[in-house]
Amino acid sequence: MILKNAELVLKEGVVRADVTVENGKISAIGTAGEGDEIDCTGYTIFPGLIDMHVHLREPGFEKKEDILSGSRAAVKGGFTQICCMPNTNPVVDNKVVVAYIKARAKEAGLCKVHPIGAITKGQKGEELAAIGGMKAAGIVALSEDGKSVADTKLMANAMLYASDFGLKCLCHCEDASLASGGVVNEGYNATVAGLKGSLRAAEDIVIARELCLAESLHLPVHICHVSTYSGVQLIREAKARGVKVTAETCPHYFTLTDDVIRTFDTNTKVNPPLREEKDRLAIIEGLKDGTLDCIVTDHAPHHEDDKRVEYDLAAFGISGLETSFALSYTQLVKTGALTLTELAEKMSANPAHILNLEGGELKVGAPADLTIVDLNQNWKIDPAEFVSKGKNTPFGGREVFGKVIYTVVDGDVKYSLSKGSKA
Ligand code: DOR
Ligand code: ZN
Ligand code: ZN
Repeated sequence: MILKNAELVLKEGVVRADVTVENGKISAIGTAGEGDEIDCTGYTIFPGLIDMHVHLREPGFEKKEDILSGSRAAVKGGFTQICCMPNTNPVVDNKVVVAYIKARAKEAGLCKVHPIGAITKGQKGEELAAIGGMKAAGIVALSEDGKSVADTKLMANAMLYASDFGLKCLCHCEDASLASGGVVNEGYNATVAGLKGSLRAAEDIVIARELCLAESLHLPVHICHVSTYSGVQLIREAKARGVKVTAETCPHYFTLTDDVIRTFDTNTKVNPPLREEKDRLAIIEGLKDGTLDCIVTDHAPHHEDDKRVEYDLAAFGISGLETSFALSYTQLVKTGALTLTELAEKMSANPAHILNLEGGELKVGAPADLTIVDLNQNWKIDPAEFVSKGKNTPFGGREVFGKVIYTVVDGDVKYSLSKGSKA
């Protein structure tokens, strides 16, 4: 297969060249060989996007999403690899559930799906999960996502064990006692709406704890979905001292503020909550200066039954796979905050590097995982068009730039805008 005449987002910058794909790998860049040609004039090719923070809900919550529907949403969103969080039922805390997810993902046959194991058994925060067995079965990281490990000694042990197995802990940072009952950010909008707020400190305290552990133990740690200006600053300072920390944020944190909660639209309810303008701007600064390494979706699909209820009772989460690229491109590249190459780092190279995954770069010899987009195409986000079972987005009606035209995994076209996904 030869992709003709595209703009390529390389590590060194953007160039115009042909890409030749043979046996699932990139065999040439620049000098076209022989094969079926796909005309990519006007399109831009990114290294296959990688989302290291996704909830696929299977096993247990297939009403919200399953591995096939989530994979379809992923390739539609341009993702060639995704990592799925373990807060399923049963929890991913042993090798059997890991093997189940991998088998279902293989059946789906769309993007590469990498399971993440729970830190503690049943995510109960009492004893460590069967980490060695899960590693042998193929997990790429550990996380208690949905909550933090409250017991600090247990968290320290988790980081030590994780490192023995070459794994990192991906930390959802939330002090449960402080956040308790909060459904939105504590502040002016929470007061006006009459909704119970959660302080930034509930997030920052645990970010600080994980940074202290990483520093004292000389171990790496990854901070999930950073939402506060103060969290960005804690991570920036830790990085400057040489702490081995990496961090992610999500499109909703650099696009929205808690002004939108005053609509009482439960699609704006997410954990951590949408914050204020100074947080949003600090997140963008953090992405620009490298404090924040990756953009993830925290794709958290929910059924209508979980969202069409009073704000206090609604489930936390945003369905993000099908909007992440366009929101990131529109909010960060169109505005001049990031270059295309930097966007590719945040959405592909850095996640690959953090989790030791193959891919993340367009180069000869690499797997032909490619995300081909039309950056000039603008479109209106419409949740009714989502292939994810989760239609829960606060971005319905928003105009964005950047449409995924093809998603190629190991040289196979798994999604095309005109034909949909292959499965
Ligand atoms: O909004 C969220 N949804 N935040 C989380 O931490 C968990 C996630 C979910 O699983 O729904
Ligand atoms: Zn989380
Ligand atoms: Zn999550």
